[in-house]
Parts: sequence; C-alpha cells; structure tokens
Amino acid sequence: MASPQATSSSLAPLTSAYDSILALTPYQTGKPVEELTREYGVSDVVKLASNENPLGCSPHVTLAITEQLGQLARYPDGNGYYLKQALADFNRVDVEQITLGNGSNDLLDLLARGFVSCDDTIVYSQYAFVVYSMLAKIQGATGIEVPTPRFGHDLTAMRQAVADHPNTKVVFIANPNNPTGTQLGQKELREFVTSVPASVLVVLDEAYIEYSPESNNRALLDEFDNVVIVRTFSKAYGLAGLRVGYAISSVPVADLLNRIRQPFNVSRVALAAAAAALADQDFIEATRLSNAEQMRWLEKQFDALGLGFIKSHANFIMVKFEVEMEDINAISIHQALLEQGVIVRPLAAYGLPNWLRITVGLAEDNLRLIDTLRSILTED
Ligand SMILES: Cc1ncc(COP(=O)(O)O)c(C=O)c1O
Repeated sequence: MASPQATSSSLAPLTSAYDSILALTPYQTGKPVEELTREYGVSDVVKLASNENPLGCSPHVTLAITEQLGQLARYPDGNGYYLKQALADFNRVDVEQITLGNGSNDLLDLLARGFVSCDDTIVYSQYAFVVYSMLAKIQGATGIEVPTPRFGHDLTAMRQAVADHPNTKVVFIANPNNPTGTQLGQKELREFVTSVPASVLVVLDEAYIEYSPESNNRALLDEFDNVVIVRTFSKAYGLAGLRVGYAISSVPVADLLNRIRQPFNVSRVALAAAAAALADQDFIEATRLSNAEQMRWLEKQFDALGLGFIKSHANFIMVKFEVEMEDINAISIHQALLEQGVIVRPLAAYGLPNWLRITVGLAEDNLRLIDTLRSILTED
C-alpha cells in the first residue's frame, strides 16, 4: 500500500516545519534489485543505477568485518581513531582536519546544518547532485541554482550568484559532477575559490575522485580555510551498503562538524571495513582500469547506436534518448529496460527528461545493457 503523503494541510496542527520541507520530493534512489524481481518477476537483474562498484570491494574488507563480529554488542569508537589516522596519512593532513560521516551525504547534511540558517543562501549548479537543493529546502534557506550552458558548472555565473547574494554561506560543487560526469580544471576552481569571500564555504564533493585523480583538489586545503573536500567509500571503494564518508577541512570547520554529528555516526563494522579498503590501493587501481576500459567500450556502442552522450570522468555516463520515433523516449526506454531486468537511472527529476544515467558495469553487464537497448530501439 502506498504510504500517505504528508501535505501542509494534513500536518498543519502538528508541525512548524518550513513549507519548503513539506514541498520536498524525497530523494529518488536507484531501484533495488529485490524490488525489480518482486514487481516484474525477472531474475538475473543487472543494476546500473546507483554508481556502485561492479567489482564489489577489496577482499581485505571481508576479513576486517569478520574480526568485528564478536564485538557487535560494543559501541564503535566514537572518534574513529584508526580510520581518521589512516585518512590523515593518506591525504597528508592533520587528524584534526577529518570528520567522519555515515556516507558522504551525512557530511553534506552536517555542513548545511552547521553553517546555513533560514536567512542564508546556498549556491549550486543546475544539473548538480540533487541533494544540494534538498539541503537548502531542509534548512528553509534560499537555494540558488545557477544555470549552466553545457552541463558542467559555469563558475563565472556561480561567482556572480555569490556576489548577488551576500548571505551565501555554502557553495556546493561536485567534481566530477553527478549526473553529468563533467569535470572542472584545477586552475578554474582555484580562481573561483580565490574570488569568493573567505566567509563562504566552498564544498568540493569528490565522490568520484578515484575515477578521475586529476580532479583532486586536495592542494586547495593548504591555502584556503574555507575549502571543504567531501569523499566517500560508497563508490570506487565499493562500500555503499556500509555508509562511510569523510570531510577534510580546516581545523575549526572540522571542530564544528564534529560537535554536531551524532556521537556514533559510523558503525564499528564500517570503521574497520573502510580502514581495510583504504589500505588496498591496488583494488582502487584495478577499479579505475576496469572502469576506463568499459567506459571506452560503452562510448563506442552508443556511437554505433546513434545515441548522444556527455563525456564522463566518473563511473557512469549520461546518454540522450531523443529518438525520432513515436512512443520511444527516455521514459519508455527506462521502463522497457526495467521489464527486461536492466535498471538504469531516469533524470527527469534533474530537469533532464530526455536523458538516462547509466553506471558502468562489468563487461557482461554492459553487453546485456547494449543488447537490450538495441532490441528496444530496433523493435517494430
Ligand atoms: C556527487 C555525490 N555526492 C555524494 C553522494 C552520496 O554518497 P554516499 O552518501 O553514499 O557517500 C553521491 C551519491 O550518489 C554523489 O553522487
């Protein structure tokens, strides 16, 4: 049974929530495999919808998790000492600059809660990760979505938006960006950070950094106290199910984030798994190589099918389905793929109704996707 939707009027006597929260559309997740099997009776499902790592995770993670199983009655280390130490060494920063989160979403949320009130403004780009606009609404703040002419971020226009809104507290920039896969150059980002007031936090969301090491803007942290880098173990590290992310920032920003996070926001199992995953950089290299090879193969197939796509620097690719055929569009193709056991991500919620975002899978997953797509597109 569908759960009843809360509306302003049904909640009126109970809530003082901002109207913007009541108007919020909940985050749309990729359809879980189990749900597709239940709904359509298809087995052998291929999920290419949530930018997960098709190789799984480092084998060292299994051992690390097993070692924790006898300790589940005990709370985790609330300070995440070992993982924070490992992350500080890995990123060549002080341990006081690290904040751990229950996935990187937790950190994005903490940044909004810690720095943005209802009189403030958050600036982000059109076609950027949808959570940024949600956070503005949750805080009851003003969210400024800056138009972008070519899917990437228009940093000149974003700089102007910050200047036009003196109450801007946070700018969110995903690099590489989800869902477009676009990447910003280090020089232009540096110029952007230099040009905004030091009172504005510039949050660089590097969820896909392992696929695009040249997008790494770690060096900015040495120069700018208002830069925050947010990373995750959900994508290349293959730990989406465990929920671990981290922020690297100046010490005062980390201090504030650590004050407001939940005391045990990362579980004992997740802490141990993330430390083991971080130590296995060979796995990350194998992930990067496999992704690059499969991305090249997919690009060739989309070209052969006459489908447009945006060059991606991450582990997913945005493909255009503006097919000159009645009844065939991104929505119908998404549905037809679902019915044949292939889950991809529709992008209507991003204002991109003619596009689908497809996660790069293993060779056999990608072959299945392309074969299924070809049969849908060539059907009478
Ligand atoms: C750009 C970006 N940032 C953050 C996240 C959040 O990931 P998680 O909370 O799993 O770390 C995602 C997930 O899709 C993402 O694409």
